[in-house]
Amino acid sequence: MARRTISVIMNGVTGRMGYRQHLVRSILAIREQGGVDLGDGDALWPEPVLVGRDEARVRAVAERHGLERWTTSLAEALADPQAEVYFDAQVTQAREKALRAAIEAGKHVYTEKPTAESLDAALGLARLAREAGVCNGAVQDKLFLPGLLKLRRLVESGFFGRILSVRGEFGYWVFEGDWQQAQRPSWNYRAEDGGGVVLDMFPHWRYVLDHLIAPVRSVYAHAVTHIPERVDEQGRTYPATADDAAYGIFELEGGIVAQINSSWAVRVDRDELVEFQVDGTEGSAVAGLRNCRFQHRAGTPRPVWNPDLPATEVFREQWQAVPDNTDFGNGFKTQWELFLRHVATGSDYHWDLLEGAKGVQLAELGLRSAREGRRLDVPELEI
Ligand SMILES: NC(=O)c1ccc[n+]([C@@H]2O[C@H](COP(=O)([O-])OP(=O)(O)OC[C@H]3O[C@@H](n4cnc5c(N)ncnc54)[C@H](O)[C@@H]3O)[C@@H](O)[C@H]2O)c1
Repeated sequence: MARRTISVIMNGVTGRMGYRQHLVRSILAIREQGGVDLGDGDALWPEPVLVGRDEARVRAVAERHGLERWTTSLAEALADPQAEVYFDAQVTQAREKALRAAIEAGKHVYTEKPTAESLDAALGLARLAREAGVCNGAVQDKLFLPGLLKLRRLVESGFFGRILSVRGEFGYWVFEGDWQQAQRPSWNYRAEDGGGVVLDMFPHWRYVLDHLIAPVRSVYAHAVTHIPERVDEQGRTYPATADDAAYGIFELEGGIVAQINSSWAVRVDRDELVEFQVDGTEGSAVAGLRNCRFQHRAGTPRPVWNPDLPATEVFREQWQAVPDNTDFGNGFKTQWELFLRHVATGSDYHWDLLEGAKGVQLAELGLRSAREGRRLDVPELEI
C-alpha cells in the first residue's frame, strides 16, 4: 500500500483523554496497524505534532513514543502549511480560542466535547468552520462503543416495536481527594474552570439519544453538588462550585421518555459504569459500554408483587446476550479513522461541530432548567 502522510496537530496530549484515548489508543494504534486504509490502494499515515504548555511534559510524551515533532507554541504549529488537521483535547475552557485560531489558519478541526462552554460559542465555531470550508468533527465516542453498537443493531432490526422509555444510569464514586486521591482532574468540580457533570455528560446523552433512539425535544434537570469541598492535585482544599450529580428527564420525539442519572457521587452496583435500559412494546434491552442484553416479549416473566415472600425468580438471568459477531475496535479510534478518511477523500461524516453544538445546547438548557426548576423545550438548531 502506498502511504499518504497527514500531519495532525494534537493539543492537550498530556491530559487524560488526549494521551490515552486519542494519542495512544487512536493515532498511534492507527500507525501500528499500518495507517487508515483508504480503499484505493493507499493508506493514510497520521503524523502527530504534539502541542503542550509544559515543555518537559510534552517532550516526555514525545520521547516515550519516539515522536519527533512537538512544540509549546500553538501559533508555531498552526503556521506550518503542511499541518492539515488540528485536534483539541485541552480543558474545555481553553478550547474555543484554540479552535478559532486553527480554523482561521485554514486547518480542518476535530475536537473533544463539549465543543465550547456556551451554545453561542459552540454555534459560532460551527459557523466559522462552515464559512472557512474546513472539515470539522466533534468526538461522539459512545456511538462507536460495542455495547451501543449492539443496541443499534437491536433498534435497526425493529426488535423493540414501539420504544417507550430509556433509563440511563451513569456514574461512580470520585474520591474527594483527602484520604484517597481523586481519579478525575479538579477543574471538573469548579464551575469557573469549565467543570460540572451536566456540561461533561449531557453532550454525550444528546448524541446517544438523538442518534440511537429519537431526537431530544425537551429537558428537565435537577443538578446538585453533593460533595461541597474537595482536595486538588496539590493537596489544597477547594470549594466544589460545579454540579457533581444531575437527575435528568428528556422527552424525545414520539413521546419517548428518557431518564438519565449522571453522578460522580454514587457507588457502582451495575455491570458497567454506564447502562441504558430501553423498554419497547416488543422487547427490552440493557446496554453498557461493551455488552448488551435483551429480553423479548415472549420471554418476559410474570412477577407478582408480594413482599411477604422472597423473590421467586432470578430476574437478571432471564436476559440473553447480543453476540459480538464482529471485532469491535476502540470507539475513539473508529471515529478518528472516519474523520481522517473524510479529510483525505471527502467521504461522508456526520458528527460535526453543529452536532457538537447540540450537545452544548442540551447542557446549557439542562443547567437553566435546574436553576429555574422547570422543563424546557429543546429547539432545532440552525447555523
Ligand atoms: N469523550 C469523553 O468520553 C471524554 C471523557 C473525559 C473528558 N473529556 C473531555 O476532554 C477534555 C480534557 O479532559 P481530561 O479529563 O483529559 O482533562 P485533563 O485535565 O487530564 O487534561 C487537560 C489538558 O489540557 C491542557 N490544558 C490547556 N490549558 C489548560 C489550562 N488552562 N488549565 C489546565 N489544563 C490545560 C492540559 O495541559 C492537559 O493536556 C475536556 O474537554 C473533557 O470534557 C471527554
